Amino acid sequence: MATKSMRCLLAVPAVRREFFQKAADSATDALFLDLEDSVSPEQKLAARANAARALDEVNWNSKRVLVRCNALDSEWAFRDIEHLGARCHRLDGFLIPKIGSVDEIRHAEALLGALNRERPRERPLELHILIETALGMARVEAILEMATRVVSVSFGVGDYSLSMGGQDRSVGGANKDYAVLTDGAADTARHAHWNDQWHFALARVANACHAFDVMPMDGPFGNFADRLGFAAAAARGRVLGYAGKWAIHPSQIELANQAYTPSTEEVSWARAVHAALATARREGKGAVAMNGQLLDIAHRKIADRILARAGVAEGSAHDE
Ligand code: COA
Ligand code: MG
Repeated sequence: MATKSMRCLLAVPAVRREFFQKAADSATDALFLDLEDSVSPEQKLAARANAARALDEVNWNSKRVLVRCNALDSEWAFRDIEHLGARCHRLDGFLIPKIGSVDEIRHAEALLGALNRERPRERPLELHILIETALGMARVEAILEMATRVVSVSFGVGDYSLSMGGQDRSVGGANKDYAVLTDGAADTARHAHWNDQWHFALARVANACHAFDVMPMDGPFGNFADRLGFAAAAARGRVLGYAGKWAIHPSQIELANQAYTPSTEEVSWARAVHAALATARREGKGAVAMNGQLLDIAHRKIADRILARAGVAEGSAHDE
């Protein structure tokens, strides 16, 4: 799907008006004004009003600006979507939390479709969703197979953990108890090897998204003082095929951008692949060796992807 990149998606509670300008001026590609879990029930209506005013009054530059509405079965969701979707020109779309069924997606798509028809926009309101419950995870492929206007799926690690029994106090961090202990055979020292308790869920969401041409977004990492931990989590998501990561604090934005922007080494590799394959092609070969490594058409596609993500024109001076 051709869509604007979203290396970082910044969460901005709609009750924290002092955050708005900072978010607008930041280096994030996208942000959402949150009406859901960073807002107490007593503040829901004030948060909605703040979001409406901010959408009209703040200069959001070229950022993708979303609103995270309340869950569809809550008493607030319908008015969140109707009120903001009908009035706010600058709104790019909604991020809908806790999607757990195909029916909910149908409902959300019908609501956004109606708003887009009632008031046609240059770019129709986008639909972004969160998969963050055991039920949503169990049905993610079915949900995406029937969805027609979902742009991204975020994996919401905090609520997912809650839904799975609630062991994760860190929101997205590692857990020393999710480990295997080497068996100590022949009196060798025993070592605990940490595993990644989020691997199954992250990989499943990424696979479902790529199967149905939707952007997978890696969710929050709560310990914003832990820059190394965030950088490692973001790098892991990128390797799994994610398109970007949430930030819950401005200090995480640059780290997410870095993780999801190809390095100069990757760009050099991609250019070298183009050059080597162009030469191979002139010599009538499809595959060739570069520094002891096989290169074939798949590598060219990987190189194209890296150059596109880096914003470099496809091909290079050496290419045909
Ligand atoms: N968006 C924009 N600006 C933010 C921000 C955010 N999410 N979080 C903090 N800031 C700004 C502050 O206004 C402050 O700006 P200043 O230096 O110009 O005064 C600066 O960044 C440092 O903020 P800090 O004092 O470290 O943060 P805090 O203690 O006030 O708040 C959190 C910490 C975690 C409560 C806050 O970052 C936050 O609410 N994050 C989003 C939470 C959320 O949306 N959760 C739901 C989705 S998981
Ligand atoms: Mg959540």
